[in-house]
Amino acid sequence: MESSEIRIKQHPILDFPERRKVRFYWEGKELLGYEGEPVASALHAAGIKVLHKSMKEGRSRGFFCAIGNCSSCLVIVDGVPNVRACTEKLRAGMRVEMQKGVGPALISKE
Ligand code: FES
Repeated sequence: MESSEIRIKQHPILDFPERRKVRFYWEGKELLGYEGEPVASALHAAGIKVLHKSMKEGRSRGFFCAIGNCSSCLVIVDGVPNVRACTEKLRAGMRVEMQKGVGPALISKE
């Protein structure tokens, strides 16, 4: 993992269990994160703070409540829009993209 990552590695009362490093993609760029951590944490650790653009004005949005209560961190994951990056767990090979506005409509292939 890059030495420039932004992470808390030691804490006086919290433990951080060992997790497997996995590759995933942000806007097509390969990054590394820890399996099972929130997608927003992995992106933040890589220095990526703008996750979403607001619907009306296109303003930058990012990690805000960090508990799934707002819509500031909505991203597109493997083609699925409106995924909350702060509660979605990172998986190997995941493709994450910035969501602009409401995101693309999902069209059923049935
Ligand atoms: S930061 Fe609020 S829902 Fe993710």
